Order: sequence, then C-alpha cells, then structure tokens
Amino acid sequence: MAKSVVHSQCGGYTLSVPNVQSLATSLDKSIQIPERYVRPEANADPIARTNEIELPVIDLAKLIDPEFSKEEAAKLHRTCQEWSFFQLVNHGVPEELIEGLKANTVEFFNKPLKEKMVYKQDNSGSVQGYGQTFVLSEEQKLDWSDMFYVTTRPVALRNMKFWPTSPSTFRDNMDRYSLELTKLASCLWQYIATNLGVAPEVFEQLFKDHPQGLRFNYYPPCPEADKVIGISPHSDATGFSLLLQINDVQGLQIRKDGEWIAVSALPNALIVNLGDITEVLSNGIYKSIEHRGMTNTQHPRISLVAFHGPDNSLMLRPLPEVVGDGKLNYGSMSYQEFMKAVFNKKLEGKSVIEKLKL
Ligand code: OGA
Ligand code: NI
Repeated sequence: MAKSVVHSQCGGYTLSVPNVQSLATSLDKSIQIPERYVRPEANADPIARTNEIELPVIDLAKLIDPEFSKEEAAKLHRTCQEWSFFQLVNHGVPEELIEGLKANTVEFFNKPLKEKMVYKQDNSGSVQGYGQTFVLSEEQKLDWSDMFYVTTRPVALRNMKFWPTSPSTFRDNMDRYSLELTKLASCLWQYIATNLGVAPEVFEQLFKDHPQGLRFNYYPPCPEADKVIGISPHSDATGFSLLLQINDVQGLQIRKDGEWIAVSALPNALIVNLGDITEVLSNGIYKSIEHRGMTNTQHPRISLVAFHGPDNSLMLRPLPEVVGDGKLNYGSMSYQEFMKAVFNKKLEGKSVIEKLKL
C-alpha cells in the first residue's frame, strides 16, 4: 500500500467511498465516468514499453538444494539489487490450496453487494474489511478498485468478524495460505539476510511472529480504462509482499529506471516485491519499488497481496552489520511512527521513506 499497507497493529483511517464494482456495472457505455476517478496522470505518464516483460524468476527449490543454492542465492541478490520485484516459482505452496483460494476469492467478489457489505470496514481505526484505504479527503482522486483486507498474523490479532463465512472453505483456505506464506517468508528472509551479510537469526528476531495481512484487490473493467488508475503508484510499507494474481488478467506495472513497464507473471508464481522496511534495513542496498495497477475495458482483474511486516516494536534504521564503516543512508524512526505517517497520507509514490533519507 504507497505505502500500501496496512499493517495490522497500526490501524489506519480512511473515508468511505463508493463501491467501484457496483459503479462499473451500472455505467452505461455512453455515460462518462465520474470526475473523481479521472486521472490526468494516467495519460501523462504512460507505459514506456507496451510489451509486457516477464519478471526475473527465482526458483525456491534451487535455493534450498545444496547443489544449486549458491548460484541461486547469488541470482537472488542481483535480482533484489536490480529489480526489487521478481517471481518466485517452486515455492511449495500447494497447487490445490492456491486453486481453492482463487475460486473462493472470485466467488466472494461475485456476491451481491449487500452480502459483501456484511464485512465492510467499520471505521474503528483499522482498515480491516471491505472498502478502500488511504482516502483522506473528499477532494482526493480515487482509485478504480475495491479492496478487502484482513490481518492474519499474529494470530491473536485476528478479528474473525471480518472473515467471510461464505464460501464455506474461504476461512480455512485463508488460514492455510497464511501459514504457508509465513513459512515461505521465514525461509526467504534467511537467504536475504545471508546475502546482506547479516546472521539469519537477526532477521528472525526483527520479523518475529511474522506479522502478516492479506489484501484482496478487485479492479472492475472500466469503459474508459486509459483515464483511470486501478491502484495509485506506491511502494509497499512492508518487509516484502507476496502477490498472487487470482485471475489471468495482467495490469501490474513497475517503475524501473524512471519508466513504467507492464509486467506479467507465470500462472501461480508468487510475485515478490521488496518494501520500504527492507530498503531502510539494508541501508538502500535493496530499494523498495514503485508499482501501480491499471485496468482494462473488458475484464475484472483480481489480485491477492500478502504483506509481511516487522515486529511492531522495531526501531527502523539501517542494520549496523550492513552499514559497517560505510555511509549511513537513512535516519531512524520507530516502526509505529513510520506506519502512522504512512496512513496519514494518500497513496503516493515513496513519499514517506524519502523523509528518512540522509
Ligand atoms: C498492493 C498492490 C497491485 C496489484 O495491493 O499493494 O500493489 O497488482 N497491488 O493488485
Ligand atoms: Ni503494492
């Protein structure tokens, strides 16, 4: 979230906005889309390369296989430095679970609005539930999407009133997926730590209990897709995020070397996206990357993003093991202050982390 995210413990306030899925269904092709969704920057800042590029691939099976591990870990390091965005294959999350969760998600969003609104955000200082985030004023332009967010870890922070009871397997699949991704995140952190010259135990401690949230994004088709933005440009305020494309509709773009490029991923690969927390901890060796979601005129696009954040007590600053005798590139701030700043702004580039730069 452009900080796109939504951290469990950190609350977040957002104004309620119209449901875009219903709005899109009610729009006649001849009727113009409401002004609040018209984004001049969508045209002013088009994609530089129209052909989708396939993201670099990291193979988790190779990473954990002693025969290939060194080579794959070196590739992981280069990819983190050059891209901050890659797709993870052979990640070990069971295919049957992914397919089940995908079907649940589609079924949930296809339900009548009234049924989904049972799970709407309740403005209690948390962004959990069905609605939108980072809307702070009535004048602010809006994204062409709806979202549904739940905190999944630490388990004690779950609020089951936001966990849909229908489809009947949804809760169980969310729970299983949450656990699978936690194991995966823990494994990935070990390699990232080692690549940064930090003992894996240090990262284990920083990310203890593996705080995690799931954000389901629904981007309806738009008759004037080139005028709207599905999700505004932002970097994620996480350690890293793991994105699963729920249907086969692409729309994700990343800003690389100053240009927007459309990316595509292999079916069922998990797209890893390094967040702001990793940028600061690594003293900028790895950077969080700006990304956005665009829509199209024909098909809804659905994604599921799992945010993996640090322990709530973290003091955010570059790790001394990484800085060594070198130059310190970021100041320090408590993670809680950082998340407050994230939620006090609309979704907008890397604006919060920029303030920490020395
Ligand atoms: C997010 C995000 C992109 C997408 O939710 O933080 O970047 O493709 N989503 O849905
Ligand atoms: Ni994001």
